[in-house]
Amino acid sequence: MTPRIAPSLALFGVTLLLTACGGVGDAARPTGEEGTVGIAMPTQSSERWINDGANMVAEFEERGFGADLQYAEDVVEDQVSQIENMITRGADVLVIAAIDGEALGDVLDMAASNDIPVIAYDRLIRGSENVDYYATFDNFEVGVLQGRYIEEALDPEKEEGPFNIELFGGSPDDNNAYFFNDGAMSVLQPHIDDGVLRVRSGQTSMEQIATQRWDGSIAQARMDNLLSAHYSDENVHAVLSPYDGISLGVIESLRAVGYGSEDRPLPVVTGQDAEVASVKSIIAGEQTQTVFKDTRALAAQTVDMVEALLAGEEVPVNDTETYDNGVKVVPSYLLEPVSVDIDNYHEVLVGSGYYEESDL
Ligand code: GAL
Repeated sequence: MTPRIAPSLALFGVTLLLTACGGVGDAARPTGEEGTVGIAMPTQSSERWINDGANMVAEFEERGFGADLQYAEDVVEDQVSQIENMITRGADVLVIAAIDGEALGDVLDMAASNDIPVIAYDRLIRGSENVDYYATFDNFEVGVLQGRYIEEALDPEKEEGPFNIELFGGSPDDNNAYFFNDGAMSVLQPHIDDGVLRVRSGQTSMEQIATQRWDGSIAQARMDNLLSAHYSDENVHAVLSPYDGISLGVIESLRAVGYGSEDRPLPVVTGQDAEVASVKSIIAGEQTQTVFKDTRALAAQTVDMVEALLAGEEVPVNDTETYDNGVKVVPSYLLEPVSVDIDNYHEVLVGSGYYEESDL
């Protein structure tokens, strides 16, 4: 299931740290010649974050750093106390994928007063000046890839519409959710405006379509409601889903009312993260697409940034305009996401060694 780099977990004895996740403050400081990095990840409930954490630890340790990896299981207060503990234990730098992008102001003040630089990982940390750099993927482009996939699959230029589409958004406390949605709507909105794509529920704003904590069961319940309220006499042809966990919840809901049969095919359903369950779903002909973000590349990029930062060298960035966190524009490095479906999953995911054939 995990990318090939993950097995080094066991080799480097990281298991010890992982088991210390819940109990904050009791783990010894993992030291490395080059320094110690505190890595705060949101949750282990999604495979991608497990891969992100494992890849970073392996990469940091290979380059001589100690890594203190903690998961907070989507509890904001736990993430805050984990970061406090990293600071107390003497981290030289913090790498943080925030649960709630707005909730870290105070703990980042504490980091700043201890001269500990902070790199926001994958998700922008908002509302604080104490965020030094941001390592992520081109989040707007992720949405564009999802929107374009729907556009091409339904082919509104050629086929006669209107096509019914429903929209799902990510977690409202995650800055990425808005970028994904803006990217997707940059492609889809013109087709909604000209009536070729129709949102029968009328729910199009982020307030209406957001999914708290990216939770697939919340998405499933919302899809149940949409289907019973708006689709008793017509089929839904496409669902914009920003993340694989949401996609699978939506598909559960669709299957429960008979989609997935010959007379009632599943709609086009997008996704993100190329998680194993979703890749299997794509192979089984259920989920249609996902967006692959290579966590190995993001980990390596982040380690490069940390190394440069601690060596007092110029930190590699390729975007100094896009990510305004409300207080400052955070210099960022954006990696390229890749759209994956049944036609290219093998080449992209197995060919690159991200997964083994047998994982899928
Ligand atoms: C986002 C991230 C996505 C997805 C989602 C749910 O912040 O960019 O790749 O993982 O969270 O975990």
